[in-house]
Amino acid sequence: MKDITYLQIEPTTKCNFACIFCCRNKLEQRDMNIDLFKQVLEELQQIHHIHIQGEGEPLLHPDIIEMFQFARQKAYVLTTITNGSLLSKYYKALVDCEIDRIGISIETVDKERFRKIRGGSLDAVIKGIKQVVQYKKDSGKLKPALGFEVALLKDNLSELKRISDLYRDLEMDGGISVQPLNTTPFYFDNYDDYLKEQILTDTENLYLAKEVEKINRSITVNELVNRSLSLRQPAMKEKDCPLLSSGLFVHSTGKVSFCCLIKSGENAFLGDLYHDQFSNIINERFKRLKKFALSGRCPEECKNCMRWQQ
Ligand SMILES: C[S@@+](CC[C@H](N)C(=O)[O-])C[C@H]1O[C@@H](n2cnc3c(N)ncnc32)[C@H](O)[C@@H]1O
Ligand code: SF4
Ligand code: SF4
Repeated sequence: MKDITYLQIEPTTKCNFACIFCCRNKLEQRDMNIDLFKQVLEELQQIHHIHIQGEGEPLLHPDIIEMFQFARQKAYVLTTITNGSLLSKYYKALVDCEIDRIGISIETVDKERFRKIRGGSLDAVIKGIKQVVQYKKDSGKLKPALGFEVALLKDNLSELKRISDLYRDLEMDGGISVQPLNTTPFYFDNYDDYLKEQILTDTENLYLAKEVEKINRSITVNELVNRSLSLRQPAMKEKDCPLLSSGLFVHSTGKVSFCCLIKSGENAFLGDLYHDQFSNIINERFKRLKKFALSGRCPEECKNCMRWQQ
């Protein structure tokens, strides 16, 4: 079990936004049971990095602060991603929990377009970011680093510069992280014609990854946080994937898969914590990894993933 160094866990599939590219509506709408959450973290004693987020808005889980506090005791690095709408409600607790990095999702700095893409208020998000930044200053805390998460659409590429300007204005420090539109079947099958046209080519994705690296060198980024993110963000298009070899994803239903992009298909899940012993799930994971290593082929589960070089 020591090879699992990264755990991603989904607190909820519920949300108060309605992003055009999101697939959470295809999932059962539910919160993870907090006892199950704690059980998973107890089982995986030696996790380096816990990332609390799946589909859904993590801050909507009624016990989210207790989850962060519990996870803080169990991992060296603790991170999350939020739509930012509830930062105003939780800014003190989030700083006090000593989360290492909070990613805040944004695709545009234009309020109207933000509402069209995300179905929520950019003003509320900005207000929340300002409150976290101010409270960090007032309490003399360096954490959490606050970064932006940008889903890349063809139509928002020209926004990256404006997003980095907003990052500077807001005195953020967690870097800008970009995410191409997910292309595993569960996501792709949900896209309308407009979104299918918005998917970038591999060449465009690689070019943008480099551009974003440049942007990150030109803004203030907490270096410690950046290093901790390397696992969560595997390089684009590789013949291997660190999430496959070192990660585990636990869905709010208790099902377990290699990573958060694997949500459908006959072999999507390694097991179900409500029905299987944790040790059996880990054994299943090990068996599959051995099979992939021997075949040298892309695992069925990862087919069409934008991270995997076919
Ligand atoms: C699923 S959301 C959950 C956390 C939170 N609700 C939020 O939006 O930040 C996590 C990240 O995935 C991104 N995302 C959602 N659907 C996506 C898709 N189809 N392709 C790429 N990124 C996606 C979101 O923009 C967000 O940055
Ligand atoms: S805020 Fe996050 S979970 Fe909610 S609809 Fe948007 S991407 Fe999906
Ligand atoms: S689906 Fe993609 S990101 Fe997930 S484990 Fe497979 S290759 Fe890695």
